[in-house]
Amino acid sequence: MITEDSVREVIDSARIEDVVGDFVNLRRRGNNYTGLCPFHNEKTPSFNVNPARNIYKCFGCGVGGDPVKFLMELEQLSFPDAIKWIAGKYNIQLEEKEVSQEVRQELQERESLLITNDFARSYFADQLLHTEEGKSIGLSYFKQRGFRKDTIETFGLGYASTQRDGLYKAATAAGHKEEQLEKLGLVRNRRDFFFDRVIFTIHNVAGKPIAFAGRILKQNVKAPKYVNSPETEIYHKSDVLYGMYQARQTVRKLDLVYMVEGYTDVISLYQNGIKNVVATSGTSLTSGQARLVKRFTENVTLLYDGDKAGIKAALRGVDVLLTNDLNVRVVVLPGGHDPDSYLQEVGTTSFETYLQGTARDFLFFKADLLLEEAGDDVSKRTEAIRDVSSTLALVNDPLKRAGYLQQFSARLGLDETLLVNLVNKAIGDRRKAQRKEQEREARRERRTGGGNTSDGAHDDDWAGLREPGWAGDSDTAPEAPPAARQDSGAPATEAPSLSAGHSFQERYLVELLVRHGHQWYDEEAGVTIAAYLTSNVADLLQSFDAPAYRDMVVAVTERVRSGQTPAPSWYASQPDLALRKLAVDAAVSPYTYSPNWKEMYGLHLTQKLPENNHRLAAETFLYIFRMEKIERKARENATRIAELEREGKLDQLRTHLKVQMKLQQLRADLARELGTVVLHN
Ligand code: CTP
Ligand code: MN
Repeated sequence: MITEDSVREVIDSARIEDVVGDFVNLRRRGNNYTGLCPFHNEKTPSFNVNPARNIYKCFGCGVGGDPVKFLMELEQLSFPDAIKWIAGKYNIQLEEKEVSQEVRQELQERESLLITNDFARSYFADQLLHTEEGKSIGLSYFKQRGFRKDTIETFGLGYASTQRDGLYKAATAAGHKEEQLEKLGLVRNRRDFFFDRVIFTIHNVAGKPIAFAGRILKQNVKAPKYVNSPETEIYHKSDVLYGMYQARQTVRKLDLVYMVEGYTDVISLYQNGIKNVVATSGTSLTSGQARLVKRFTENVTLLYDGDKAGIKAALRGVDVLLTNDLNVRVVVLPGGHDPDSYLQEVGTTSFETYLQGTARDFLFFKADLLLEEAGDDVSKRTEAIRDVSSTLALVNDPLKRAGYLQQFSARLGLDETLLVNLVNKAIGDRRKAQRKEQEREARRERRTGGGNTSDGAHDDDWAGLREPGWAGDSDTAPEAPPAARQDSGAPATEAPSLSAGHSFQERYLVELLVRHGHQWYDEEAGVTIAAYLTSNVADLLQSFDAPAYRDMVVAVTERVRSGQTPAPSWYASQPDLALRKLAVDAAVSPYTYSPNWKEMYGLHLTQKLPENNHRLAAETFLYIFRMEKIERKARENATRIAELEREGKLDQLRTHLKVQMKLQQLRADLARELGTVVLHN
């Protein structure tokens, strides 16, 4: 392990403009540099490098950080690898610390497996390019498929000859242990595993060869078309996507990845300029692969061969992508074609036009496919709708889900409420299953004495928001909510204008409190709706837009804190006329929805009226409320960042950048959380 001193030395030496400059063309602007952002696609530079602070920041896509972070993100390096990269650049000698015997052995083991694999890669390449057999059989095959020299190099293509122990002999002669070769699945009983095949190297995202695949060239042989390296310490098939190493930067840039089945499809598309492509290698997708994709993009387009059987089988694999919050689209290629053959036939331009023109959202694709199959058969149609609903339930993002619901009901001519219920039921079932699983896990942990208490992360995050240094928060101390203003100078006898900022939401909060505050949110835990709502908005009281509603919430908060439940009679006996009037208003008027809620948040998720469903109403409300407050903060903060940047106030800039990242995180957390808001029956 690298010593802390060494790490510090490296971090102190790394100049952000040097490191970034190795990847991005930078131009000086005042004391800073700008360039085209390597993390997203852009035509005008919004990527900024600030030597004084030693940080980078993209005002287009929001990424930012120090030199180490830049390398980790752009090159997908681990922290130690980023440190090593910088050390190499500045010729810094790294001091290594003794690590435990076990860890060192494991590291050495992995390292030496990678080294042996790299030897095999170069051996196969050498066979392909420099032996008579390799050239006449392997190389001519690749050439006939149209693969260029540089492509062969980029993808580590090679050839394994008919000799049964060529690799074994060469590797052992070069000092590689037989035991290692066996572990890697390259050799068994001194005989090569790969022979008489062309070789495809499988890389990890850092570009190291972790496995191989060999394709047979002879036809009419019973042997399988491909043979692949077995699972090893360095090759976990389920976490690998073929071609990700070569594709990663383009995927990031275009914010899209194409998924195909075959190795040759990847190579062919890549060579023809469609570089954001990876292969699933003909098996169904795993969660590990979905997470891998997610490090680079959220947008996946699947390219299916045009035969029905293939498509139906592939449909099943997609759930795991949706569950991992990826946006999935589908392209079906014309009958009989795979991506490679179709590209060869029509050329890159037409191919790309075809992709863009026919890519369809996966959920609609699936719905149409199933319904078409069902035809007029009522029970089959019902089954199809149920199937699509449960797929839709996998979509975690509530906004996305709401959008789908609307469109589905329109397209299928179905009552939206029906669909909503189906989806909610599916979500409920899934949550129940997850909860059971979690409980099992918890029991296991209790038994083994482990455990973690970090379920309050959400509150902690908000505490973070109260850190000093974000725009416009210079007024009163946030922890103590202001006392109810019975003597307030601003009379609230008139209902506040609903057009001001978040007043709609604030009024709705009061409505929920007045009508349902005394009902249970969680009876077992003794939590009322009033307690639930007030404790979850306590940190937001400062940013209320309507003082009258805030005062009401403050009064309820104090009532709850004194251990009492604000019943309807309590509201009616408020000494302050303004509050009393507000409460009465809220109790008798129809529910107030902000005009844009429905579009923005798919409020029909709560289509049951709040009176029947107060817990869901309270949860949904909190989500929207907190989300809008976060978004406003983020907007304000972004404006401030731009100002500070212009004014060159770098000290403050850094703080604001941190706040911005925090806000983005909060937004993501919150969105995930609403995925858990379901009907509580
Ligand atoms: N595959 C495999 N083992 C097999 C057959 C297929 O691992 N016996 C995997 C490979 O990853 C292969 C993918 O499934 O790339 C798709 O199979 P196929 O379409 O048959 O292969 P292609 O890569 O398209 O090969 P080619 O174009 O040379 O026929
Ligand atoms: Mn093919």
